[in-house]
Amino acid sequence: MINVHGLEDRVAVVTGAGRGIGLRIAESLLANGARVAALDVVPPEREDILAIECDISDEAAVNAAFDQVEAALGPASVLVLNAGITSLAPFEKTSTELWERTLSINLTGAFLAARRAIPGMRAMGYGRIVALGAAAGKSGGTRSAAYAASKAGLMTLVKSLAAEYARDGITANVVAPALIDTGMLVNARELVERVPVGRLGTTDEVAALVTYLASGHAGYITGEVVDINGGTLID
Ligand SMILES: NC(=O)c1ccc[n+]([C@@H]2O[C@H](COP(=O)([O-])OP(=O)(O)OC[C@H]3O[C@@H](n4cnc5c(N)ncnc54)[C@H](O)[C@@H]3O)[C@@H](O)[C@H]2O)c1
Repeated sequence: MINVHGLEDRVAVVTGAGRGIGLRIAESLLANGARVAALDVVPPEREDILAIECDISDEAAVNAAFDQVEAALGPASVLVLNAGITSLAPFEKTSTELWERTLSINLTGAFLAARRAIPGMRAMGYGRIVALGAAAGKSGGTRSAAYAASKAGLMTLVKSLAAEYARDGITANVVAPALIDTGMLVNARELVERVPVGRLGTTDEVAALVTYLASGHAGYITGEVVDINGGTLID
């Protein structure tokens, strides 16, 4: 667990925080003093987190969820865009439905949440946006066209926010993981062989990086994509 400053009493919204990396991020922000809201189609059952059922690709639901956060906790100064689906399929078997669902959750969902959260951040003159990209969003990959394209789009969305709102005290960065063990990998041993450091990453390691970028320490870092992948993209 990382200890940072600048999160005390800040309101943090984490999308997709029902489980996995997002839940770990929510716990880490909470441990550093933030008041945390989790938006998820299956929200966490936790009394210390404001859990809101929300499909991030649904504009009305996203706006209503932020209304609820603001009424209960106040405006968000930290936004973690973590909700995502990993839609793997051979390219020619990628249905239009799968393509559109992937883009609407992984990319449009981030757009909707950021657009709703940013006015409150601008009013405070402070904001931290951290999105979960993916190594595949840089490299592409087999069976990954929709997923990789959605994550590549997310990266330039976030870089655009970084440029547009830098003078408003808002930073926006991407954390790009690969092969993080969320307890649901079936062929872990085979996957480990692809990682130069020889093991999978942990949700703790990702949460620590996101927490740092969401903290008061990271005000001079914006528009970056920070890889966390055990060297997977080393040439
Ligand atoms: N685990 C990895 O190795 C890895 C690698 C690269 C990128 N990532 C990215 O990190 C993020 C978290 O990944 P994870 O491994 O914890 O995944 P996960 O599937 O365990 O968790 C994703 C969460 O998002 C939620 N979600 C899905 N669709 C949603 C929607 N429409 N609206 C709201 N919430 C929704 C799910 O209910 C779930 O709680 C994702 O964006 C993923 O693409 C993960």
